[in-house]
Amino acid sequence: MIRLQNVYKEYTGKPALIDVNLHIGLGEFAFLTGPSGAGKSTLMRLLYREETPNKGIVTIGGVNITRLSPRQVPLLRRRLGIVFQDFKLLPKQSVFDNVAYVLRALGVDEKDVKRRVSSALAIVGLEEEQLELPENLSGGEQQRVGIARAIVNGPPVLLADEPTGNLDPQTSMEIVQLLERISQRGTTVLISTHDVPIVNAMRKRVISLKQGQVVSDVDSGVYEIETTR
Ligand SMILES: Nc1ncnc2c1ncn2[C@@H]1O[C@H](COP(=O)(O)OP(=O)(O)OP(=O)(O)O)[C@@H](O)[C@H]1O
Ligand SMILES: [Mg+2]
Repeated sequence: MIRLQNVYKEYTGKPALIDVNLHIGLGEFAFLTGPSGAGKSTLMRLLYREETPNKGIVTIGGVNITRLSPRQVPLLRRRLGIVFQDFKLLPKQSVFDNVAYVLRALGVDEKDVKRRVSSALAIVGLEEEQLELPENLSGGEQQRVGIARAIVNGPPVLLADEPTGNLDPQTSMEIVQLLERISQRGTTVLISTHDVPIVNAMRKRVISLKQGQVVSDVDSGVYEIETTR
């Protein structure tokens, strides 16, 4: 579902990703870990075409997204759910309207909007909060709204860059478990994180980046802890 082939990305001469090769299959759940500056966000931004690589190929669902025209980028984004560390909710709009936003922008019939938003809010457990403003919700609840918004259009791929970066450990675990439930419904999920306890508890695939390179990639893995010994 997600494939990177010999991907190289630099920012003004400084490499951020070096010869990255990666394949994440349909419905797979994987963590992307590594120290600050390792290239996690850069890799995510290549997947949602916020950036393009200097060399190599990125494909999503068999489509080479490095070659998309500007007009085709919104079509790609419709097939991706993206979850952000800082939630990026519209502060003056209700939970319902935040989740409905993309569907309405696509001109979806209001009856279908209602049905699909209700279904997404049920998955994240926020049916009761649909008329609230984001500011009246906890951080974990706000992130659930972000997840509902990401899945409302039924994307085959869900990308989350540090989705628990602003949350306490208990809430972080709940959010990651929610993302795992979503992957069990057939969505390919990639989560970047430095949260060692969560990665170790989940026993999922762990792809580790260091200085722009994939240094390990293991199934049912644990976070690579650097030792000086
Ligand atoms: N827009 C940019 N312009 C210039 N350099 C950048 C840009 N974005 C990232 N970099 C550099 O690319 C490298 C990889 O950064 P990236 O943000 O991908 O790392 P990260 O693994 O997400 O780190 P963090 O854990 O701190 O979020 C770093 O050296 C960073 O300074
Ligand atoms: Mg980052």
